[in-house]
Amino acid sequence: MRDGFGRTIDYLRISVIDKCNLRCNYCMPVEGFEWIPRAELLSFEEIAAIVRELVGMGLRRVRITGGEPLIRKDLPVLVALLREIDGVEEISLSTNGILLPRFATDLRLAGVDRVNISLDTLRRDRFEAIARRPERVFDEIMAGVEAAERAGFAPIKINTVLLRGLNDDEVPQFAELTRSRPWHVRFIEMMPVGENLHLADRFIGADEVLERLGSLAELLPDAGPRGNGPARYFRFPGAVGSVGVITPLSHNYCDSCNRMRLTADGRLRTCLFGSHEADLKTPLRAAGTVRAAVERALQQKPQRHMLINGSDSGSGGLGALSQIGG
Ligand code: 5AD
Ligand code: SF4
Repeated sequence: MRDGFGRTIDYLRISVIDKCNLRCNYCMPVEGFEWIPRAELLSFEEIAAIVRELVGMGLRRVRITGGEPLIRKDLPVLVALLREIDGVEEISLSTNGILLPRFATDLRLAGVDRVNISLDTLRRDRFEAIARRPERVFDEIMAGVEAAERAGFAPIKINTVLLRGLNDDEVPQFAELTRSRPWHVRFIEMMPVGENLHLADRFIGADEVLERLGSLAELLPDAGPRGNGPARYFRFPGAVGSVGVITPLSHNYCDSCNRMRLTADGRLRTCLFGSHEADLKTPLRAAGTVRAAVERALQQKPQRHMLINGSDSGSGGLGALSQIGG
C-alpha cells in the first residue's frame, strides 16, 4: 500500500475497545467521557476480515491497542484469528499491564509476538497522581511485567511519558533497569490533545531527556529491538536493554510513517492527528469488502501532523489518545 506521498503503509494499529481501567492524566479524563456503545464495536470476525483484506493489499504487521485492549472480553480469541491469516508477519500488543498476570500466557499461546507495557513511574506512591487509580493497582502492573517475562515475551518494551515535576526525576531509575534487564524503555514526548492541555507546562522534550541520560553514563547509539516504530535507541556500555526516545514534537518523523489505525467501531484513521476517517464498517457489512474505502483513505493521509505543545489545534479533533490507543 502506498499513500499519496509515496510512503509504504504496512502496519495497522487496531483499537479493540476505547475503555480503560486507568485514567492517566495525559491520556484520558477522569469522567464524562462517552464510550463507544457495545453494539457499535467491530466483532472479532469483522476485524479479522478487514485484516485479511488489507494483507492482500500489502499489510504485514498489526498491533492491538485500546483504550486498554485486555478489557475486551476474550482477546486471545482475536489473536488466534489474526494468527491464522497468511501474511501477518507480526502481532504485537500495547497494554498497561494490569491484566497480564491473567492473560500473558494465553496471549503468548494464541500468537502475540511482542508486548509494549505503559509504565510511567516505578514508585508506588506516585502512581495515583498520574494514573488516578489506587496504589494497589501499581502492584498488579508490576506483577504484569513479571508475568510477561515469564510467558516468554521478549523484547519487552516499556513506554514512559515523562511529565515535569511528576515523574521526570525517575529517568535514572528507568535507565538503570536497562543495564540488567532486557527491557527497552522508551520516553515518549507528551502529545497535546484537547484533554491534556492543562499539563502543557509539564512537557519535556527528548533532547533534555537525552542530556540527562548522557550525564549518567556513556550513551551508545543502538539499533534497538526490532519493531515498526519511530523510536531512536541508545544503550549504556554493557547494558542488556536499551533506552529510547519518541519525539513527535521535537523531531518530526512523519516522512517515514508506515501506519494506519482502526478504531474499535470500524473507522480507519490514516493519521493519528488527521481529521479524516473512513468508515469501513458500512462497506464491510454491506458488500463484504473495504478495499475501495481503504484506497481512497490512503490518498487522503496527511503528510504530517502539525502538533505544537500547549495547543490542540494540530490534533485533528482527537480529544484523547485513549480513543485510538496512541
Ligand atoms: N502523549 C504521548 N503518549 C501518550 N500515550 C497516551 N496518551 C499520550 C499522549 N497524549 C501513550 C500511552 C501508551 C501509548 C500507547 O501511548 O502511555 O504507552
Ligand atoms: Fe504518521 Fe500521522 Fe503519526 Fe505523522 S502524525 S507519524 S503521519 S500517523
